[in-house]
Amino acid sequence: MSFEGAKIVLGISGSIAAYKAVYLGRELVRRGAEVRVAMTKNAAKFVTPLTFRAALSCPVVVDEFEDPTDFNMQHISWSKWADIIVIAPATANIIAKCAGGIANDFLSTTILAANSPVLFVPAMNSAMFLNPATQRNIKTLHQLGHFVMQPDSGDLACGESGAGRFPEIEKIIAEIETLLSIEKTLTGHKILITAGPTREYIDSVRFISNPSTGKMGYAIAEMAVRFGAETTLISGPVEITPPYGVRIIYVTSAEKMYNAVMSEFGAHDIAIMASAVADYTPTKKFPGKIKKTADSMAIELTRTRDILAELGKNKGDKILVGFALETDNLIENAKDKLIRKNLDIIFANLESEKTGFSADTNAGVIIDKDGNIEEIPLLSKRKIAVILLRKIQQVIEKRAGYSK
Ligand SMILES: Cc1cc2nc3c(=O)[nH]c(=O)nc-3n(C[C@H](O)[C@H](O)[C@H](O)COP(=O)(O)O)c2cc1C
Repeated sequence: MSFEGAKIVLGISGSIAAYKAVYLGRELVRRGAEVRVAMTKNAAKFVTPLTFRAALSCPVVVDEFEDPTDFNMQHISWSKWADIIVIAPATANIIAKCAGGIANDFLSTTILAANSPVLFVPAMNSAMFLNPATQRNIKTLHQLGHFVMQPDSGDLACGESGAGRFPEIEKIIAEIETLLSIEKTLTGHKILITAGPTREYIDSVRFISNPSTGKMGYAIAEMAVRFGAETTLISGPVEITPPYGVRIIYVTSAEKMYNAVMSEFGAHDIAIMASAVADYTPTKKFPGKIKKTADSMAIELTRTRDILAELGKNKGDKILVGFALETDNLIENAKDKLIRKNLDIIFANLESEKTGFSADTNAGVIIDKDGNIEEIPLLSKRKIAVILLRKIQQVIEKRAGYSK
């Protein structure tokens, strides 16, 4: 992928992984990006500004008050210039400062004044990363509309092992490419998205569910907002922070999901159903907790209502997108579902360690009504969300009688 013409501010904070930013910066330049480097004073103790100046042939600023080379530089001019700001590595400290809106050096000031996407790439000891304060700060960054990459797990520079490793350069590059490819092409559209599992209660404390984490649906909602769409997310019980700018409705059971979707569908022109709704629910819900008395027990189940099929029947001009998780005959089964449920687009994937419910990545096929099949290699769920939203954009353009 080329970054020709992209203007990237590479922010570097004081992590042992700071030297890896040299390789990241070189790769960005090699791909055609124009790079400027903003370092914290502590980052400059790990790698000198001279290293970046020499390796990337680019401007480097540590302290805006002490830069004798460019007296015209305003403290927010880099924020205005950038197409994206990437803080890699991001220390626990810079994450905390930015979550709190602090601007006490050049990098944090640039981030506070940003009007482009900001991507944090955390790198730290796992105790620092898992500390509730850091987790809270990361959540706040999401709520402020910033992007935060999940660090890798494995051996850390401090000799310990765990979550907090600086991700592979290729992964960071792929994430930057995803964020740079966002266009506000769905402005004026209203998108309804579902995500996560449902819970079908047997008694007051036990339920039947599935391992859906909601990551795919949440990634689509996060990106739909960036594409300019007014976005509503109906979510089953998940552990993810609501994405920035999304109107969210929480539900638990398949029945509540059905009711919420039906009451929202009319007000939206695009519906993407990415939740894992139970097909069956206990016929009888016991009041209170069932006591452990009998040696065996049977639970009778009743079919739940098919949300996607119901939407398909009543969709009119709306665009309807479904998901299919298959265990075999991926394309045939997905095509069959697309026709049976009157969908415009279906994303189908096979369950595996890297494409299943809890993975951050996915892979599969996107099939449209005209029978076009696009194979999607293993990519981040955010990237797949962008591809899917672009596909929806193409359907809209085709209907309007033109294509880009
Ligand atoms: C050898 C060494 C390695 C460090 N590595 C990290 C790190 O990987 N991640 C981190 O968050 N902090 C790390 N720190 C601590 C930060 O440098 C410290 O919190 C500092 O205040 C960060 O400043 P900055 O965010 O302004 O760059 C390290 C410190 C030392 C001395």
